[in-house]
Amino acid sequence: MRARMMLTTADFEDAAREALDPVYYDYVAGGARDEVTLRANREAFGRLNLLPRILRGRDKRDLDRTLFDCPMSMPLLLSPTAFHRLAHPEGELATARAAAAAGVVMIVSMASTVAVEDIAAAARTVTTERPPALWFQLYLQPDPDVTEALVERATAAGCAALVVTVDSPVLGLHERNKRNGFDDLPTGMACENLRNLRGGEPGSVRQIAMSAELSWEHLDRLRHSTRLPVLLKGVLHPEDARLAVEHGVDGLLLSNHGGRQLDTVPATVDLLPEILDAVAGRVPVLLDGGVRRGTDIVKALALGAAAVGIGRPVVWGLAADGEDGVRAVLELLRGELDHTLALCGATGVDDLVRDLVRPGFPGLR
Ligand code: FNR
Repeated sequence: MRARMMLTTADFEDAAREALDPVYYDYVAGGARDEVTLRANREAFGRLNLLPRILRGRDKRDLDRTLFDCPMSMPLLLSPTAFHRLAHPEGELATARAAAAAGVVMIVSMASTVAVEDIAAAARTVTTERPPALWFQLYLQPDPDVTEALVERATAAGCAALVVTVDSPVLGLHERNKRNGFDDLPTGMACENLRNLRGGEPGSVRQIAMSAELSWEHLDRLRHSTRLPVLLKGVLHPEDARLAVEHGVDGLLLSNHGGRQLDTVPATVDLLPEILDAVAGRVPVLLDGGVRRGTDIVKALALGAAAVGIGRPVVWGLAADGEDGVRAVLELLRGELDHTLALCGATGVDDLVRDLVRPGFPGLR
């Protein structure tokens, strides 16, 4: 019996810190360089205030939302995080079952330590009202044939959307990992989506290539090779958000990679209004980075995000208690979201509008 009461995502982080090899804890918890952006994601939510309405709520609130034809029990999704088997022996299989049971979308990382077909099969073992929904995150590869082979694989596995991460021309530098000497997966674990990929040697696992020479042409080529909706993850400059829409992307996931790529970029929730202005309602904008509380979810949705993603809290749940841990993290956030909606006088997530949120300090924004 664990004595600690698991009431918050922070409790799960504490439990994960105890359960994990410190090297892997640092890999998950850490950010790039001075971790300025990592902290900023949290601080920015803290600086925003909620200004609730009164005498207009409802006993039972509507949390569900549909995005890209995927019905979700709440506008919360699992942002893609690599290497779940570092956190728990069942890895992504446990995560996928928990997401399916909770009725939320899991974005499978291209760098998952279980192959996407097996993740999809695990999700299908769960009986729920909603069919389980998986989206697939990928890094465009310099060789477009490799990108296409991955897309083919994810599509055949049943993924319903592609999330293309574009903030990684090179890997962010995490000094924690350098100090810990962590630079590769342990023996017996690999990026399984890159194993036996069409065009590769049978049995071989390709390396994920990062390239600073990728361009909009690579994205155009991908878009024309698939019928799945394509979201871009990691667009931060409003001008790039405009360009992305012009290039026909179906959505944006506003993300600074949880402070793991370029350090000192702004907190995502601070950038959200500018990105929404640039996109001008043409495609949905989702957001991740620092979401740890129901109030964070409500603030992002009120400012105009279509849904929010969580990265680290999922891994903390997984490390603390496998599938049940991930499920518990999702349910505690659902509870906090619902409670916050009630306190804000909202009948559901569709009631959330911009004037519920105020900058906490005069002069900010
Ligand atoms: C990530 N993230 C990430 N993003 C991505 O596009 N592909 C990936 O493989 C990974 N891998 C990954 C591993 C780990 C351990 C973390 C913590 C993060 C970034 C992730 O999708 C998301 O943007 C952030 O994690 C969101 O911030 P929070 O919720 O962790 O604060």
